[in-house]
Amino acid sequence: MANPSLLILAGDGIGPEVMDEVKKVISWMGSARGIHFDVSEDLVGGCAYDAHGTPLTDATMAKAQEVDAVLLGAVGGPKYDKLDFSVKPERGLLRLRKEMDLFSNLRPAQCFDALADFSSLKRDVVAGLDIMIVRELTSGVYFGEPRGIFKEGNERVGINTQRYTESEIARVAKSAFELARRRNNKVCSMEKANVMESGILWRDVVTEVHQRDYQDVELSHMYADAGAMQLTRWPKQFDVIVTDNLFGDLLSDLAAMLTGSLGMLPSASLGAPMANGRPKAMYEPVHGSAPDIAGQGKANPIACILSFAMALRYSFDMGDEAARVEKAVEKVLADGLRTADLLGPEGGSPIGTAAMGDAIIAALNETL
Ligand code: IPM
Ligand code: MG
Repeated sequence: MANPSLLILAGDGIGPEVMDEVKKVISWMGSARGIHFDVSEDLVGGCAYDAHGTPLTDATMAKAQEVDAVLLGAVGGPKYDKLDFSVKPERGLLRLRKEMDLFSNLRPAQCFDALADFSSLKRDVVAGLDIMIVRELTSGVYFGEPRGIFKEGNERVGINTQRYTESEIARVAKSAFELARRRNNKVCSMEKANVMESGILWRDVVTEVHQRDYQDVELSHMYADAGAMQLTRWPKQFDVIVTDNLFGDLLSDLAAMLTGSLGMLPSASLGAPMANGRPKAMYEPVHGSAPDIAGQGKANPIACILSFAMALRYSFDMGDEAARVEKAVEKVLADGLRTADLLGPEGGSPIGTAAMGDAIIAALNETL
């Protein structure tokens, strides 16, 4: 059988630096575990715009559709702020999500014990935290029509449309229930049914799917604003949270910070199964391109490395190998190794991106 294929789109800012460390882990899987991948690389975001005048070429889009999984670094930077909206780096990312139809975005927020004191919340609130946000990723206000900036009388009006169909809600709800069954069997659905019709429909459809096929899973509903409050008050009440594209964007950043650093959080974006049974998939760290520290070798590669671990688990059914990578990360943190973003107010001496990658490889070797 052919090796599984990966397309690496490292992107902008710290994307290429953190992705270099992922490449070390990919080669380690080959040399130490005999798990080989066919890896190709291409451009996305600002760097693609610089090279081709578009943040994602049709050729790159076509490659992304063919591979087993896409690994993405980060896109964007101040250099591109003034570009027309249609060619902004972020449009490349959104096109990938939309055209690959990656409707289910899994964003785990897990607090590593070694970092529990680093959260802005008290240790007992976050220690041992393990929740999963399932964010709808291909619809809602990010994509709804009409949208644009229009003239109305003598002033301009900016318009975006929150739009969800029943089937869009049902499929992401189903993925959340499925996931919950493999975890602690609880789903909390978040919307604003008190003020938005799309929220009323969301709540209805999630309830229907639950009634029909998932009565064994515990389901609750919360308004998204109350959900944000509950996430900071007592996050351990949650197991899986399912929510729309925009609320998911906000709540996942909030949940990420509970764990200490945005530099720790991976994500998986999954679509329907392909002919080979694997889901369409893209894996990316939740953090952005961090232009302020790009090119300095300071960035934390852990979120990107853990995103590859998610690829092992969700695309390639290699949960044991994924756990091995996660263990290695836990080990280096327990050993006190820290990139700059993981230093508390008391300071300490940080290690760089490459040193963190090397330490993770050393810890991987110890798992053999
Ligand atoms: C994310 C990011 C993206 C989003 C941006 C970069 C388009 O914030 O993945 O959370 O808003 O979805
Ligand atoms: Mg975001």
